[in-house]
Amino acid sequence: MRLKNKTAMIVGAGQSPGETVGNGRAVCLLFSREGAEIACVDRTLEAAEETAEIVRAEGGKATAYAADITIEREIEEAVRAAQEKMGGIDILHNNVGVSIAGGDSVIETFTEEAFDNVFAINLRGMVMTVKHVLPGMRKRKTGSIVNISSMAVLDMYPYVAYKASKAGVVAFTEQLAYQNAAFGVRANVILPGLMDTPMAVDTRAREWQKSREEVVAERNARVPLGAKMGTGWDVAYAALYLASDEAKFVTGVTLPVDGGASVKRG
Ligand SMILES: NC(=O)c1ccc[n+]([C@@H]2O[C@H](COP(=O)([O-])OP(=O)(O)OC[C@H]3O[C@@H](n4cnc5c(N)ncnc54)[C@H](O)[C@@H]3O)[C@@H](O)[C@H]2O)c1
Repeated sequence: MRLKNKTAMIVGAGQSPGETVGNGRAVCLLFSREGAEIACVDRTLEAAEETAEIVRAEGGKATAYAADITIEREIEEAVRAAQEKMGGIDILHNNVGVSIAGGDSVIETFTEEAFDNVFAINLRGMVMTVKHVLPGMRKRKTGSIVNISSMAVLDMYPYVAYKASKAGVVAFTEQLAYQNAAFGVRANVILPGLMDTPMAVDTRAREWQKSREEVVAERNARVPLGAKMGTGWDVAYAALYLASDEAKFVTGVTLPVDGGASVKRG
């Protein structure tokens, strides 16, 4: 019960189609199992509701909210409703992120539309979400914000907008950490590496017309630790620590969860 009596809003709480658990859904389930009440926010109500339903089936407390984070009034309304329902938001977990599915590509074929779309989803949406959650946290002099970036920031990653927007997430989180320390609000960022999630594996299998097994084998081979990708649970456990009071003296940290990929050089 590491999050006993806490409330948590997870943005991007649904998941892409596929057989394994996504990062966002794993966070909702783990935070609930550790005692938190959950607000599941997603672009589609069905996706948020599906996760909320799984949490409730396990005996947890969860409510689903629809909000597209690229539309400020939608996320503002979801934050207002969740605050009203839960009496405040102790933990904000920003999970939304797209790459290939957002039209991203290598520079040769890159378009203005892809830039605008991926940045609006990966960075602007996160900034606007935080804008509406922060006042409540500052007022209550407590809060933990966990943002999801990517190892693509440090790694050789082929597509333009994902890498640059996720680098922006790291810079934004550092700014949040120092500007809000005086208010008792912490902000940290996770860099997931190669994870066996639907977003990463099934999307690539579809795009590249390969089997799931081929994509899994190719990604596993690139992981130093046990030559096996991580899962949504690995991201969720890292987020749990950062969200909990165990990390009460930890803010502004960039935490790779990558099976050693960030130390594999040369
Ligand atoms: N899986 C990996 O290998 C990997 C690696 C590095 C980083 N990440 C990061 O992890 C995060 C996602 O992980 P996941 O497995 O939960 O992905 P996912 O695609 O399964 O879930 C993300 C959810 O966000 C929702 N969403 C998308 N756009 C939205 C919008 N505009 N407004 C509201 N909701 C929106 C989707 O509907 C989806 O349910 C992303 O930030 C991604 O960049 C993943």
